[in-house]
Amino acid sequence: MLVNARDMLIQARDGHYAVGQFNINNLEWTKAILLTAQELNSPVILGVSEGAGKYMGGFKTVAAMVKAMDESLGITVPVALHLDHGTYEGAKACLAAGFTSIMFDGSHYPIEENVAKTTELVALAHEMGVSVEAEVGAIGGEEDGVIGAGEVADPAECAKISALGIDFLAAGIGNIHGKYPANWKGLDFVALDAIHNSTDTIPLVLHGGTGIPADMIQKAINLGVSKINVNTECQLAFAAATRAYIEAGKDQQGKGFDPRKLLAPGFEAIKATVKDKMELFGSVGKA
Ligand code: 13P
Repeated sequence: MLVNARDMLIQARDGHYAVGQFNINNLEWTKAILLTAQELNSPVILGVSEGAGKYMGGFKTVAAMVKAMDESLGITVPVALHLDHGTYEGAKACLAAGFTSIMFDGSHYPIEENVAKTTELVALAHEMGVSVEAEVGAIGGEEDGVIGAGEVADPAECAKISALGIDFLAAGIGNIHGKYPANWKGLDFVALDAIHNSTDTIPLVLHGGTGIPADMIQKAINLGVSKINVNTECQLAFAAATRAYIEAGKDQQGKGFDPRKLLAPGFEAIKATVKDKMELFGSVGKA
């Protein structure tokens, strides 16, 4: 059931668990995530970066595919289709395409410009029943060409952006996209606590979910994180399973080259990864 992400994240905040955002890249990814959410009776957010949207043939294609698949597979758990790290133009395009949730990443603008653009997009989105995520303090690492230096967000700026009527807030706390380096210092819980206190009760978003240890995830949820984004981990699981299939020569046996066979191990690997994360985040049975 396609819905915006507002209510599911308020319930997660109040219930002290987090909803996973899993980024999609194609039909197999989408199907694996939707089926896992349904099997585990968990709410879920499908994330689409601007790059992935372009890759799949545009935001309209993505919205049509997700909507049709949600109906055809009989998915009854709440599913939000969310633009990940959207530009101002991308956010508007997703509103027109039928996304149910958008992120406007204005973290690289001066705070005044971030405020002005976020305010405008909140008004447009809310008129259409679409939820809005904003960001303060760039997330480190690189994702689809969006490069952040891994800043820790300023609690005063978080309060300012939260007051604009956004539905949930991404705040940098030392998290980065992609694999964490061996010398990573971990999440900054002092910063998270300060952000949580300065933003009242707004659900907080933790980007860069790949590779964050379970105890840090738990602590982050206790400090107000209600949405956790995972992308790279599904990609790594898919690639490893596909590699194993080909290295075992299975694509050269019988009809093993059929894409429905070739992509099956990767599909199952995504399902297993999503299941692990939903269990860790505590969203199982919460649909
Ligand atoms: P990872 O790729 O590190 O899991 O981060 C995902 C993310 O934050 C998407 O916005």
